[in-house]
Amino acid sequence: MAWEIHGFGSDELLVRTLAAAVIARLTAAIETRGRASLAVSGGSTPVKLFQHLARQSLAWDKVSVTLVDERWVPEDDGDSNAGLVRKHLLQHEARRARLVGLKTDAVDAALAIDQVEQRLAKLDWPLDVIILGMGEDGHTASLFPGAASLAQALDTSNPARVCAVTPPVAAHQRMTLTLAAILSARQSYLHVTGNNKWQVLQSAMAAEQVRLPVSCVLHRADPPLGIYYRNGM
Ligand code: 6PG
Repeated sequence: MAWEIHGFGSDELLVRTLAAAVIARLTAAIETRGRASLAVSGGSTPVKLFQHLARQSLAWDKVSVTLVDERWVPEDDGDSNAGLVRKHLLQHEARRARLVGLKTDAVDAALAIDQVEQRLAKLDWPLDVIILGMGEDGHTASLFPGAASLAQALDTSNPARVCAVTPPVAAHQRMTLTLAAILSARQSYLHVTGNNKWQVLQSAMAAEQVRLPVSCVLHRADPPLGIYYRNGM
């Protein structure tokens, strides 16, 4: 099985436990390699986790933070994932971490691939920790079901680390890490809350299926994906 489930009855306990696991991984990376890398998701789910992580003691000046995906909007737009990370994660202790964003000034994300690849190439790969979220349509990062470039982003024989995606329904064009880049991480976590997402996760666990891109991570993660799930609404 390529996942391990950690279930919680409260957000607070989930956040404390997941944050402790993340900090332990980053600490070990710094001890071993002198620096660490962390890729995080946007959306609403990680806000409390970011706020908690920001107050943890760590050699944050040795940590590079990047994103698993970015909406193609300026950083001062309320929908920007880089903006979210600066506001909630790169504060307090964590203010000394360095953010490597996925957005450029290009009008279209597809025109920015080379520039973003070059930026990411300067990070140490494999990334130490990736924290994924999931939507109720089964997307993770910006691997959206039905997107024209989904097959390309899921093709693990493709060496690209990023792919431009136009979600069929969700707002904004995106830049996303590819499945290959996600699967290359030393450790990945999936942070999900609520019964609706749990139902989706159950279907994704049952079989790997392209209509639920998260299932491609679930079934192929090595080491196993750590699923941190809070039940309830
Ligand atoms: C994004 C994300 C995306 C997110 C899910 C869940 O920028 O949209 O990185 O993959 O994790 O859509 O979003 P919520 O946490 O808001 O439900």
